[in-house]
Amino acid sequence: ATATDSLRTQLHKLHVQQNYVPECYPSLNPVDGYRIHLANTLSDVTGVDAKTIYPLLQRTATLDKGDLLLPVPALRIKGEKPDVLASRWADEFPQSLLVSKPVADGPFIRFFFEPAVLVEQVIPAVLHNHSGWGNNPLLGLKDPYNALKGQKRIVIEFSSPNIAKPFHQGHLRSTIIGGFLANLHEAAGWDVVRLNYLGDWGKQYGLLALGFKMFGDDKALEEDPIQHLYQIYVKINSLLTDERKEIERLETAGKDGSKLRTEGLDEQARQYFKAMCDNDPEAISMWRKFRNLSIERYKKSYARLNIRFDDYAGESLVKEESMKTAEKQLERNGLTEESKGATIVDFSKHVPGKPGKALGKALTRKSDGTSLYLTRDLGAMFERNAHYKFDQMIYVVATDQELHLRQLFKLVELVGNEELRSRISHVSFGLVLGMSTRRGTVVFLDDVLRDVGEKMHEVMRKNETKYARVVDPERTADILGISSVMVQDMSGKRINNYRFNMDTMTSFEGDTGPYLQYSHARLCSIFLKADVPISEIESANLSLLVEPHAINIVRLIAQFPDTIQNTLKTLEPTTVLTYLFRLTHAINSSYDVLQVVGSERELMKSRLALYTAARSVVNNGMRLLGLTPVDRM
Ligand code: ARG
Repeated sequence: ATATDSLRTQLHKLHVQQNYVPECYPSLNPVDGYRIHLANTLSDVTGVDAKTIYPLLQRTATLDKGDLLLPVPALRIKGEKPDVLASRWADEFPQSLLVSKPVADGPFIRFFFEPAVLVEQVIPAVLHNHSGWGNNPLLGLKDPYNALKGQKRIVIEFSSPNIAKPFHQGHLRSTIIGGFLANLHEAAGWDVVRLNYLGDWGKQYGLLALGFKMFGDDKALEEDPIQHLYQIYVKINSLLTDERKEIERLETAGKDGSKLRTEGLDEQARQYFKAMCDNDPEAISMWRKFRNLSIERYKKSYARLNIRFDDYAGESLVKEESMKTAEKQLERNGLTEESKGATIVDFSKHVPGKPGKALGKALTRKSDGTSLYLTRDLGAMFERNAHYKFDQMIYVVATDQELHLRQLFKLVELVGNEELRSRISHVSFGLVLGMSTRRGTVVFLDDVLRDVGEKMHEVMRKNETKYARVVDPERTADILGISSVMVQDMSGKRINNYRFNMDTMTSFEGDTGPYLQYSHARLCSIFLKADVPISEIESANLSLLVEPHAINIVRLIAQFPDTIQNTLKTLEPTTVLTYLFRLTHAINSSYDVLQVVGSERELMKSRLALYTAARSVVNNGMRLLGLTPVDRM
């Protein structure tokens, strides 16, 4: 009791002093309390200001390296070798309740938290907070000391598929990563706007409408708009290709292709699109129907991925007026010029050197007066800025649009709006290679999810006894399939390409979605077997948790809030995923040592407290990633 009491007074003192560092929240993140303690104590030992030391205390990659470490060279002390300083300071570090004797290791000082105190700090915190453990709603406040000033707002634009075209791998990744980033910021207290910016505008939509007039079917459209519109799109495009070939054939043979040029599909599509731009009621209503039905269908697929959008924006909804205003700004800044009747920006003239050349030339207005992808994006950005008043906006788009986004961002800068430029960023990612479905290579989200679900069902069937116990195998297989895809996607750094591999991703071996789900389900099953009321678990005697396996799990649990905080900087789902695999490995290898059923009741209760906390972290981490944790499988 004395240890806990004096710990409380100590922490209380520390808490009072927390104002001196930003982003320090001991009540939500116990490790921050340790940081303050270490910074204060080290300040006495080294003579360096605690404020300087605090941010230098680092997380460790593995538990054998300690819980926190100080890289002595980072203090930039002249005259003495870091190794020498490290070992002297480790020696001089006074006895502490919170950490054991520091270990000097070359230029580093490693700190290990005192297990008994850590357990008392961490387990109750998790048990009281459950689904909120790891979250830190203060991070997203405009002013952490004054909640009244409100939350920071972030607009996350992601997924953004194109109507009537396949939902390809790039959209899938954008959806997974964007959904994750939205959850992440929500967990950190931001006000998050999830925005889907549909590709729903341009001459190809004029063409699609023509196609629908020729071979469209209202019933088929209602039933599966995405498939039906795609079929029409393919058909009409192949007619268009024929037309182009025919014109070429005629003209190379010296014959007249002008009739096809002025009356053919291409021209009709252009005119149709022009009518859409001019707000022609018939053209608009048809297009709107395509759009609305597609959105309804998309929503169903997104729901399977635990994703919803606050707004379905789209290229079509960008106001002509906003684009005109943006274009006037370009003009006023002398950025635009005429080229064959169209308007262009030649970046090499406005951005010196290589970067300018790399940005190349961009079209901002076609000769027939219709807008372009870039112009719409520019107009959309200004509209969003005015409408959402965001503090940050992220575009989650594949690297193959890097140039487009660089041009976009550069234009904002070139018109002198550096302030807005500083609030927007591009979160990019690499390709998924070899993604195809069992029916072919054109990819639709639903087909991929169906295939993986079926594959997972096959995998589950192999274990007959287990399979017999699963309550709703179809649904479980579906969830496991989705987890497989998502975990594989989030395993590497975003920028890396990866190969879509159905066998690897659905395996229970290795760091996969099914493994994570299995780990969670196994944690859940312990409680069913033990059958101890939660109130007893919550009042368990935690001092019985002494085995290294138990302590290591607690040390990992303690790292969860820090992991989330770090992920807000890296914006990498793999940061969370890697953490979850470290934790689940530790949990899964502890069962043989930390028996629950069959142990003496007090011991059983303390271990259940440990596993309850562990389950909360695995569950929270999985939901943060956008997964649906299953209780049984
Ligand atoms: N619809 C586009 C595509 O599929 C992606 C949109 C990206 N976002 C943007 N603001 N440009 O290629």
